Amino acid sequence: MYKAIQAGKDTWWVGVNDKETDKFESLWPLPQGVAYNAYVIIGTTATVAIDTVKGPYLDEYYNKLLQALNGRTLNYLVINHMEPDHAGLISQLKAKWPALKFIGNAKTMPLLKGYHGISDDVITVKDGDTLDLGGHVLKFATVPMLHWPESMVTFDTTTGILFSNDSFGGFGAHEGGIFDDEKTNSRWEDEMLRYYACIVGKYSNIVQVALKKLSALNIEYIYPSHGTLFRENIKQVISLYDKWSKFESEKGAVVVYGSMYGNTRRMAEAVCTGLSKAKVKDVRLYDVSRTDPSYLLRDIWKFKALALLSCTYNTQLYPPMEALCSKLLSRMPKNKILGLAGSYSWSKGALTALQGFAEKVKLEVVDPQVEVFTSPTEEDLQKCCELGQNLGEALA
Ligand code: FEO
Repeated sequence: MYKAIQAGKDTWWVGVNDKETDKFESLWPLPQGVAYNAYVIIGTTATVAIDTVKGPYLDEYYNKLLQALNGRTLNYLVINHMEPDHAGLISQLKAKWPALKFIGNAKTMPLLKGYHGISDDVITVKDGDTLDLGGHVLKFATVPMLHWPESMVTFDTTTGILFSNDSFGGFGAHEGGIFDDEKTNSRWEDEMLRYYACIVGKYSNIVQVALKKLSALNIEYIYPSHGTLFRENIKQVISLYDKWSKFESEKGAVVVYGSMYGNTRRMAEAVCTGLSKAKVKDVRLYDVSRTDPSYLLRDIWKFKALALLSCTYNTQLYPPMEALCSKLLSRMPKNKILGLAGSYSWSKGALTALQGFAEKVKLEVVDPQVEVFTSPTEEDLQKCCELGQNLGEALA
């Protein structure tokens, strides 16, 4: 990955790995790093770069770009998205090639001026507009809110490559091959779903609109700006996006608890026992204080049943549970079944708050809703087990 990699006819990957940033957007952990994929197409009459990379990677990007250009000048930069992980080096490209033309849509331009002071030499495109590079004709399609209002994708009608920017992206730096046929699916799918749940999932209804728009294109390859480049699993990747954006999930359960002294944890374990009695084989038990929310969101997206159990803290939800509920409310997951339980000692609060959350998130709640005083009795644990069993049976 220290060199430009040919990714199709006249098409080069010139991206970089980032193994230094510990949190994407300073929010989401990156234990496996992240890749910023950028591309160059060498036409007979013009050359085009598609997106750049994050600012600190200038030298590495620039070296690969020059390798791919092989002595040609750079004529165009397509800006699919203005977020600085892809648009970080626009000013530097302008300094190197003063005649460079910048291609974006109407919503790109104020951001281009704001971040880089560029308002000349711009070409504003709209849906369906094309650019002929000689031997390659690019077509542009806006995909607003995937991941911000100005986002768009670029399709090479000659090679069938969709440069999809954030859409179809995933966390994780490249390790060895950059293409899907060079790694097992498990190496990309989990981190792609975590990326989806954290970054894209809030806009799932818009993903459906975008998928319909993109279905008119004869897509043979999907090259996103993060993560794996797809040249083999195209149908599968599109189908995953279709499934995730429709909130279609698998038979399985996520049980998340917030517990200070272990009492609510024991209730959660009893819920898991109930799920197991109902023959649910995929049960994930998480301590909300010790699991990053991105992994919780990923698995909540993946599985149909969700149990939330919280102790009471200052008459309300335990703070990390409150933060998780807030993240779920901003994403409004659908087609899930919910189980709720709370515990309290000096004053009630957690279960009532969870019930308020359930009302707002509009998910089906399975009985019994369990409320426990101090530490759970055998009878309390039996109720939690019953809740797990009912959740499991509702999955059948
Ligand atoms: Fe990868 Fe929305 O930037």
